[in-house]
Amino acid sequence: MHKIVVIPGDGIGVEVMSQGVRILGVISEKYDVGFQLEEATMGGGAFDELGTCLPESTVRLCEESDAILFGAAGGPKWDVLPSEKRPERALAVLRKQLELFVNLRPVKARKSMIGALPVKPEIVGEGLDMVMVRELTGGIYYGLPKEGNSEKAVDSMVYTAGEVERIARVAFDLARKRSRRLASIDKENMMEASKLWRAVVIKVAEDYPDVELRHVLVDNCSFQIVAAPRQFDVMLAGNMFGDILSDELGALAGSLGMCPSASLGYGKLGLYEPIHGTAPDIAGKGIANPIGMILSVAMMLHYSFDMEEAAEDVEKAVDAVLDRGYRTADITEKDKRTVGTAEMGDLIAQEVYS
Ligand code: IPM
Ligand code: MN
Repeated sequence: MHKIVVIPGDGIGVEVMSQGVRILGVISEKYDVGFQLEEATMGGGAFDELGTCLPESTVRLCEESDAILFGAAGGPKWDVLPSEKRPERALAVLRKQLELFVNLRPVKARKSMIGALPVKPEIVGEGLDMVMVRELTGGIYYGLPKEGNSEKAVDSMVYTAGEVERIARVAFDLARKRSRRLASIDKENMMEASKLWRAVVIKVAEDYPDVELRHVLVDNCSFQIVAAPRQFDVMLAGNMFGDILSDELGALAGSLGMCPSASLGYGKLGLYEPIHGTAPDIAGKGIANPIGMILSVAMMLHYSFDMEEAAEDVEKAVDAVLDRGYRTADITEKDKRTVGTAEMGDLIAQEVYS
């Protein structure tokens, strides 16, 4: 029995979560495995109900679980809260509390969607398949001092050699399983934290002579991602640079709504979430793309439960439904069939069964 904590959160998090849970149900039946789902609150909804965005009970449930499926947290209503009380901070605190220092963000430009991408087809070629390895519990989102008033504000980008080394090893190991190419992103020409980052990555590279390492400055990287993305396979970045660049990479997948993520630590416990936010502009309309969430379920099956075949089933089902021409509003094109969140979830669920 795998214990999964389900945290829908706010905005479209709730809508896409229903589809993620439905896919888990299908997998449970098809493979005859038990998933024990427990719902927990976190984010703005939790604040309204309990006065905190991160209830202690939610943290405890997560600590005792095998995996966490998360939707999204935040919204204009809670933007006025002090920084440390905001929904976004709750997510950051949970990641830190669970020591989930690895954030894997795979990005695929699927063949059937090449026509819908914001870049010319020749830039994407036959399709793209990349992974951003983002450091998740250090860097400028956590560094101290972190304070501000109406005259002056400071955020500190702090990295220790140990923090850089452990995430670098994850990226090198992943590169070894893929193309053996790794691009490490930094701002070494301007930042001390980046100097340390680069030096540590170079040191770790000594243990991986079979992996070709490149260093790319973050500003140039953001240009290269749209100009010539095929040069990249595994990318390694600190917390903020990885956060920013992974949204940019989302455009190459056709929409942020297509992008899953896995946040991992030393053990098997993982937190899985689409990389999109709560999308207040479309929340409650039933039109959000559930694919990022559904692919996050696939990542859970793979990383937390070693259910490779099931994970592949889900991946393939997504491809099959897209190949058949079904699209949600964010990725729709001429001559395609636009469907809502639930219908897209239905189609993918049926495909997983077949
Ligand atoms: C993400 C989000 C979060 C982050 C926010 C909501 C805390 O942007 O997962 O990319 O900055 O990591
Ligand atoms: Mn982000």
